[in-house]
Amino acid sequence: MGLWSTKNIQHLQSEADEGQSGLRRSLNAMNLTLLGIGAIIGAGIFVLTGTAAAQHAGPAIVYSFILAGMGCLFAGLCYAEFAAMIPIAGSAYTYGYATLGELIAWIIGWDLILEYLFAASTVAVGWSGYFVAFLRDYLGINLPPGLTNAPLGLGAGDHVPHLTGALVNLPAVVLCLVITALLVVGIKESARFNNIIVFVKMAIVLAVIICGAAYVNADNWTPFVPENTGTFGVYGWSGVLAGAGVIFFAYIGFDAVSTAAQECKNPQRDLPIGIIASLAVCTVLYIAMALVMTGIANYKELDVPEPVYVAISKAGEGLHWLKPIVSLGAIAGLSSVVLVMLMGQPRIFFAMSRDGLLPPIFSRVHEKFRTPHLATIITGCVAAVIAGLFPIGLLGHLVSIGTLFAFVIVCAGILVLRKRRPELPRPFRTPWVPVVPLLGIVSCLGLMSGLGIDTWIRLAVWMALGLAIYFGYGKRNSRLGRAESSAPRNAA
Ligand code: ALA
Repeated sequence: MGLWSTKNIQHLQSEADEGQSGLRRSLNAMNLTLLGIGAIIGAGIFVLTGTAAAQHAGPAIVYSFILAGMGCLFAGLCYAEFAAMIPIAGSAYTYGYATLGELIAWIIGWDLILEYLFAASTVAVGWSGYFVAFLRDYLGINLPPGLTNAPLGLGAGDHVPHLTGALVNLPAVVLCLVITALLVVGIKESARFNNIIVFVKMAIVLAVIICGAAYVNADNWTPFVPENTGTFGVYGWSGVLAGAGVIFFAYIGFDAVSTAAQECKNPQRDLPIGIIASLAVCTVLYIAMALVMTGIANYKELDVPEPVYVAISKAGEGLHWLKPIVSLGAIAGLSSVVLVMLMGQPRIFFAMSRDGLLPPIFSRVHEKFRTPHLATIITGCVAAVIAGLFPIGLLGHLVSIGTLFAFVIVCAGILVLRKRRPELPRPFRTPWVPVVPLLGIVSCLGLMSGLGIDTWIRLAVWMALGLAIYFGYGKRNSRLGRAESSAPRNAA
């Protein structure tokens, strides 16, 4: 029975009401929207847009952004219902535990490691590309390629990574470790820092869009949907789908809003606003940015680690002034995404460890700093190793498929809960149920289908590993399981 045991929702709700977490409720809808945008704008738009346009969709990457944005909107509406109903930290893992049972909660939690920890590594690799270009172009420092590239590479059509001859992506490793150190010592200032960086990022994206628009050469948009090469996912409409699966990464982060549930003043009203507003703002910015980038440069020229910078360079003398600003903005902006991701992951580990599904070391809190220091250090070190070894494409695909899978479960969770517990108070209701959750499931599965068989196999291996850990450790140590076996079962 333990596999399907759920946590009591009323109990979770009352915990949230009483503010038992000890966290201060100070965030409003605007703060939440900024938090969302801070987590969303990152390597997706600054790096993966270039690779996705060059390898999959061409200028039609714009359609990919619309497709991926729609999938996120459906999933976001489902997230909003959960977030308003169970406004406590822990994200989809907690929603899963309250509604679908312990096994599914574990699967979501394990899957979220891809969304947070692996995403931190992915963005760190993207950061490294801009950092290396900045040192080279503005300070005249040329770091050796062997120390700035992944030792494992994955060419188009490769099934297994090959050795590139490089040793390690050192800047990416160092970034993960420095941010980890900051997070261990405390994150008091990080919210303010994050707000500033969000404005910097939005200003840079807007500057590229507004200033770049004057340099668009419409020839670069013809043909807008390049002809398919005969291989699925390489241009044509299948390329648009594959591109959408890849740049879905750019939208990841809106659900980070839900992890701040216990710190907002009016979570029932503001969480849905924060989720939907941050998603809407980013969708508009992304579409405009993709149009400008593929309009200034030919999409084939964008397959580089710093495509926004390269696109601006193609505009010639007129936009020279913008290049260092884009570089510095990307360097600051991407590091803030790594910070949010490396902060979110230990909180999820913390919740899983409190429930007994992970060892107690993950929920130990440092006496002086009041942070989950050990979980943070483990997360940061693993993220650093991954960032040092793997190429951004492989990591980005894995993060996208893992997150999409979690979204499918969240959408299904809304359907299940409306049927099983129709009486629960729902301050925000997903509109048009069952249509919206069903569309969410279909669109997320559709985006997953664009990601190719190798990525599916990697996801399956990751999940198999997770299940082995659950049955080997979590199930036996689950607090809920132990409470149930030592108490008469509650009929509910
Ligand atoms: N959406 C985040 C990014 O693009 C993860 O970096």
